[in-house]
Amino acid sequence: MRILKKSVVCIIFNAAFYGLITNTVLAWSSGPPAYRTGASGDNGTCNADGCHNSYSLDSGSAIFSIKPPTAYTAGKAVKIKVAFSNSSGKKHGFEMTALDADGNRVGTFKKIGNTTQVISPGDAARELDKADKDKYIEQSTKGVKKKSWVFKWTPPVSATDPIKFYAAGCEADGKGTAGDDYVYTTTAEISASTP
Ligand code: HEM
Repeated sequence: MRILKKSVVCIIFNAAFYGLITNTVLAWSSGPPAYRTGASGDNGTCNADGCHNSYSLDSGSAIFSIKPPTAYTAGKAVKIKVAFSNSSGKKHGFEMTALDADGNRVGTFKKIGNTTQVISPGDAARELDKADKDKYIEQSTKGVKKKSWVFKWTPPVSATDPIKFYAAGCEADGKGTAGDDYVYTTTAEISASTP
């Protein structure tokens, strides 16, 4: 009888521990999988089947925007802001990439502080190809508490203008599930400044 009791306790403990690990390690609120910005060549957005698809894309009432500078100088880093306004969401997230006019992913992203993270090819859960290192930025675990994020983007030395930023954003109810959250997409263009 005592052995049975022990093994039952052991099973319950392992199940709880496994549940905790899984939730902690694979929580998409800590940053979504790569290729979900809605850009051509990506796998759609956060609004995919089995994800945040309770409502149709861009059907929410919040404003989701990208604020880049008016122009860029090749190789010189600029600051970009992604923001939700008019939002009643409890948690928020986003993912962004940049394509040139030929559809190439261009430039490199760099976080400022700890509310965003650049997706790394080494991060198995997010499945980013090595070739796309530094080409995708998203909210971090700390970042879901924010409604706006500022980070850096360094333009390439040469690209076919205009360069277009693509972002998908999630206005979430904070219930820790993918349900009842609104997903938005937005874009913004930038070209090299003429000397
Ligand atoms: C750019 C795309 C995405 C963004 C910005 C995003 C953002 C978020 C946010 C803010 C939460 C917290 C929700 C809450 O507490 O109410 C969350 C949770 C969640 N997301 Fe996403 N998500 C994205 C894509 C995805 C995709 C593609 C999937 C499915 C493969 C997914 C599955 C989940 C799940 C299962 C949860 C609940 C548990 C957890 O925190 O992981 N998400 N996501």
